[in-house]
Order: sequence, then structure tokens, then C-alpha cells
Amino acid sequence: MRLSGSGFVALRIYQAVEAMVDPEHTMDVRIRRIHYVATEIVSIELEPATPNELPSASAGSHVDVHVSDRIIRQYSVCNDPARSGYYRLAILNDPHSRGGSRTIHETFREGMIVKIGRPRNKFELVEDGGRAILLAGGIGITPLLSMAYRLQAIGGDFDFHLCVRTLDRAPFINEISAAPFAKRFRLHVDEGPADQRFQPERDLNAVCSRTSVYICGPKGFIDFAVSAARKAGCREDRIHTESFSAGEVKGGDAFTVVASRSGQRFVVPCEKSIASVLEENGVAVELSCEQGICGTCLTKVLKGRPEHRDSFQTDVEKNRNDRVAICCSRSLSDELVLDI
Ligand code: FES
Repeated sequence: MRLSGSGFVALRIYQAVEAMVDPEHTMDVRIRRIHYVATEIVSIELEPATPNELPSASAGSHVDVHVSDRIIRQYSVCNDPARSGYYRLAILNDPHSRGGSRTIHETFREGMIVKIGRPRNKFELVEDGGRAILLAGGIGITPLLSMAYRLQAIGGDFDFHLCVRTLDRAPFINEISAAPFAKRFRLHVDEGPADQRFQPERDLNAVCSRTSVYICGPKGFIDFAVSAARKAGCREDRIHTESFSAGEVKGGDAFTVVASRSGQRFVVPCEKSIASVLEENGVAVELSCEQGICGTCLTKVLKGRPEHRDSFQTDVEKNRNDRVAICCSRSLSDELVLDI
């Protein structure tokens, strides 16, 4: 899934951090059902583990899942938002997993109690009566499926496209085929016949000044889809994106990071992140997604010029250069002085 000039970056940092660390913002839920909805993708339904009701999750919301003591990951809620009482997540067993999705696939079982955060929405649907185009790449279908239900419920005019490499990797196809918006849905399979593949000239030909495009998927898909939406004439402020992966965390020149509170100086080599170097040297850092998506690790910059690689801050925020996502970003200056 989400990210610049977009709905994804609408999440405000301090609220996000508070939500993650404040126990009042977490809750225990029970896994009521797990089943596969595509190759390597499980659907997980969560119900309250206490007498309290679950807060509602608007279309596009996600929750923090406390996968283990050290791992928190963000997953979109993908059920019909009108169906309260449970949250449904869908999780791909990512071969490049840093532990989150793999642990879920290997250890989460029906009946287990899991801690999650309250739903937050940084990929909100703009319900202004304009036309919407939902563009999903693979597992990026999750927030958009919830949006499709919502748009259908409010009588919205929309199209829903899902692009996958192979048919077996297309989640929720049976459900969508039976949904009231089935006629609005188009499946595009890379390995299928050419005429069913996603073709921007054809599939985005009805874009007008009141069209909003919502895009979710891996970074490469988002880059492609954003460029296609621009080319089709979509207004910049109506392109909303959410990503499940960030840009390359490693690579680039080494630089020095200075922890201003202690005065310690550390070299960040090209193959490591600022956060990992700080942790290795006993400096406490707070991390969550470790992909530049959630904003948890944003740290005040006192001196130096960051090379922003996160997907959380807006372009305006990045241009201020006053905070840096230490899980993924690097430095354009030889030295970066942090308020840490
Ligand atoms: S830990 Fe999520 S943005 Fe850095």
C-alpha cells in the first residue's frame, strides 16, 4: 500500500505515535476465522475479545497489529465498513518479509488473542459525489475493496480494477463476483491475454476534472499507476495512493549521524539504516513498520539535510527538512544532527 501528495500521507505524526504507544489505544481481539483467499494470502477475521464493541473502521482504514513483542505491522481493514463487529485483514506471505507477515502466516491461528491498535485512516475516500477509479496491484486490493463497498452503499459512480501477475494471486475474486458492484470490477492478469491487461488509454479514458483515482499496491505499481492517472488528465490533488512497501532503504554514500543529547557520533554505512546503527550502539529508537510508511520513527533534525525515502511525509513536510524517518531515510549532507 501509500504515497506523496496523497491520502496516505494525511496521517498526522504525533497522533500516530501516541496511538501506538498508549495502551488505551490498543485492544485485544480474537481471531475468529483464518482462511486462504489466494496463493500465499490469508484472510484473518478479528472479533472483540472483551465485552467492548470494536470502533468503526471507515473505508481505507488500517490497524496496527502487534505481531510479537518487537514487531508491529500495519494492515488495511478490508471488509464492508457497514458490517461492524469485526475487522477483516488480508495478509500476503511476503518472500521479502522482515518477520511480520511470515510470523503471522506461521503462528496466527483461530482462537488466538491478538493486540491491535484502533483503526486509523490515512487513505480516506473523498465522498464529494465525483467519480472514483480504484486501482489495486495485488494485495493492494485491501483498502480499495472496503472503498468499493462504501461507494456502492452511497450510490457512487466508480470503476474497480485489480492487476495481478497470475490468476491464483487474485484475492477475494469469488466474493467480488457476487458483490453488488461486480459489474464495475475488472481483473487484469499480466500472464493472461493482451486485451484484458490493464491499458491506461482504455481503462482511464473517462477521467475528468471531478474524477478521483485511488491507487494501492507495491511501489512499482504505484509509480506506474500515478503516471498513468496524470497522463489521463487526473488532477494532482485527486490522485490518492497507499503503498505497502517503501523505496530502497539501503544504498548511497556513508554519512555521520550525531545524537545531539549525548554528543555521540556514528557512521551510517551504505548497507545500514540510521535506526539500525543507533540501535547497535545502544541508542533507543522507536520503530514500527520499518519501511517509511507509518511515521513512528520520525526524528527531529537539528542540522544537516536528509535524503527523504519515506512515504509518510508530504512533499511540503519533506521540504522543511525538520524531521527524518530514521528507519529508511539517509543524508545528503556529510553529517546529520538529530534530536535524540
Ligand atoms: S518505522 Fe514506520 S516510518 Fe519509520
